[in-house]
Amino acid sequence: MRNIPRRKVVSMLAGGFVAFLAAPGAALAETPTIRNGDVCKKVGKKKTQDGKTFECVERDGVRQWRRVKAAETPKPAEPSTSDVKVLDSAQLALGASVTAIVTSANKNYAVVLTRTSSGVVAFNRSCTHQGSLVAPSGGNQLTCPSHGAVFNASTGAVIEGPASRALTHYKAAERNGSIYVTI
Ligand code: FES
Repeated sequence: MRNIPRRKVVSMLAGGFVAFLAAPGAALAETPTIRNGDVCKKVGKKKTQDGKTFECVERDGVRQWRRVKAAETPKPAEPSTSDVKVLDSAQLALGASVTAIVTSANKNYAVVLTRTSSGVVAFNRSCTHQGSLVAPSGGNQLTCPSHGAVFNASTGAVIEGPASRALTHYKAAERNGSIYVTI
């Protein structure tokens, strides 16, 4: 066997090393991709891959990776508009209707309240025809000044057009001598 010059040996080794590094996937073993159902070893172990977390669980006697769903972010609570005090109970006699402004979440709402034999009811005063403000007109009725629509003050229902839809109803409650409206 002939002698190979030492410089050549070094050069060959260096070339081989560069080729080894350049070979795709050869230098570093790629992390195996985890998929739902792949077999795992230790129950409870978690791995995160591409932002997805998998946990090793045992199902039907088989240890397998299962994707851990991110906990649902609770929806922010709606700003409470409950229980806005509108009137003292004494200000609303049985069968009477009274208009008021309810301020809720920095907005003003024009409402009309009526005391019926079964409690206090509240409606938005905007006429469902074109939005003018209805007002109590006696006889358990609310009348729109613009085109004459008439509504039932206890139910909000249309008695006379041109409006065709009932007034918007709000929840009203009464306690400790006060009347509250929820917008
Ligand atoms: S806006 Fe009320 S009847 Fe037309």
